Amino acid sequence: MKYRHSFHAGNFADVHKHVALLALVSTLEQKEKGFLYLETHAGRGAYDLGNAAENAESRTGIDRLGDDVSSEELTRYLGVVRAFRARQRNPRAYPGSPLIVAQALRPQDRAVLIERVATEAQALERAVAEYPRVRVECADGFERLRAYLPPAERRGLVLIDPPYEESRRDGERAADAIVEALRRFPTGVIVVWYPIKHARDSESWLAALAPRISREALVSELWLYPRDSRAALNGSGLLIVNPPYRTDERMREWLPQLCRHLDTRGTGGTSVRPLISAAGKKAPGRG
Ligand SMILES: C[S@@+](CC[C@H](N)C(=O)[O-])C[C@H]1O[C@@H](n2cnc3c(N)ncnc32)[C@H](O)[C@@H]1O
Repeated sequence: MKYRHSFHAGNFADVHKHVALLALVSTLEQKEKGFLYLETHAGRGAYDLGNAAENAESRTGIDRLGDDVSSEELTRYLGVVRAFRARQRNPRAYPGSPLIVAQALRPQDRAVLIERVATEAQALERAVAEYPRVRVECADGFERLRAYLPPAERRGLVLIDPPYEESRRDGERAADAIVEALRRFPTGVIVVWYPIKHARDSESWLAALAPRISREALVSELWLYPRDSRAALNGSGLLIVNPPYRTDERMREWLPQLCRHLDTRGTGGTSVRPLISAAGKKAPGRG
């Protein structure tokens, strides 16, 4: 396996995913009852963007965000990144999704983080050692998903974030994982990240998935390059099944703002649209 998230940490796709994730956790915490956060592809948790050779991608991501962000979601995310950097005493440290969530958990919440590569899982153990409500497992996240669902709390957020090294296979496994997660836990909030290399491919992946999901589902996309250009990664997509109340409304405010910060060439854009509307019907076209 060649994929190492260190090369991509803090890039525009990470920022998109992590702002959305933190916003979802904050919404879940508006209710007192605890929840399970389950992540199938967790990575090593903490990254150092100080190594310029490894981390050039953060220049199109976190490095473009400064004090001029305005929405509450972007401000909260930047606050988490800055607090992490202060704790690490490293101005170039970057928190992966496990740490973005771990620092937000309350005593009644818990997290299970799955990572298949042993060295990454060991680093993750160290990165979350200070959080007693967080457990790390070194295993295949697609395989282990079903072992944790439904959670005893009957509230939960699942993040499925594969590397897409083998794009088609990870896409198929991610789609099957969503269907299986919903079969076991129909009310769970399930978030899947997908790459936009060519819009035609991501659109057909979504179209094939839609009839297999009978719950409300929201698509959130951010692209920095035209979605049919030959850049390695043109855009970042999130499918959010069972989105909490007002997720779409809030996202329509913060996502275009995020795009304005990241898109310095004027070739980018955003889309927030239902894949399946709240009424359970497949929504027509793009919104
Ligand atoms: C995109 S990275 C995760 C990034 C992380 N979610 C974040 O946002 O900070 C994908 C991770 O999945 C791991 N991985 C690959 N295949 C896996 C599998 N089948 N099960 C669990 N982890 C896997 C890789 O080693 C890599 O660390």
